[in-house]
Amino acid sequence: MQWGKRVLTCVAGVAAIISMAGCGGSGNAGTSASLASEATQTITPSTGSESATLVAYFSATGGTLFEIEPAEPYTNDDLNYNDPDSRVSKEHDDESLRDVKLTTTDVPDWSSYTTVYIGYPIWWGEAAWPVNTFVRANDFSGKTAIPFCTSASSSLGSSASNLAKLATTGDWKEG
Ligand SMILES: Cc1cc2nc3c(=O)[nH]c(=O)nc-3n(C[C@H](O)[C@H](O)[C@H](O)COP(=O)(O)O)c2cc1C
Repeated sequence: MQWGKRVLTCVAGVAAIISMAGCGGSGNAGTSASLASEATQTITPSTGSESATLVAYFSATGGTLFEIEPAEPYTNDDLNYNDPDSRVSKEHDDESLRDVKLTTTDVPDWSSYTTVYIGYPIWWGEAAWPVNTFVRANDFSGKTAIPFCTSASSSLGSSASNLAKLATTGDWKEG
């Protein structure tokens, strides 16, 4: 790993510090959804949430943040996995619905990054699927990819290796 080179950090929703009311399916999904964008400048609290989550980061070598942002944002209702009719439940039950469109998959100066950290919440044991769209759309050739996750209780599990399979290129670390 070449730490002297630039490091890109991709944040899917909240991707470093997390809190969730309840665990293991009994919680109210999405209570802590929040968005981080544009390096360290703009942190926008989630809408409709009684508790907002801040993602703070420090990078000594100049990591850049890129938000993986669904074109249609997930509302708290969308994230309620206890409701079989919620958006996530429908997407979970029907794989064809998981091809979530993003506002953009283009990272400015993508070719300049040698290391890409990819952060995401675990959904049903896997990477939240908006991340799939980002991974499929980008060429990881010559890059080191390091997945990391937040969750209520699950570990990375197979989420990282499945992202590596989707990407088909890049040197994907265990995460
Ligand atoms: C649709 C959905 C599915 C989830 N599935 C899991 C899971 O399988 N295991 C787990 O530990 N947490 C699960 N969680 C909890 C999230 O992974 C956890 O709250 C995460 O930190 C949320 O990050 P975010 O606020 O950045 O979206 C799930 C949450 C949602 C909304």
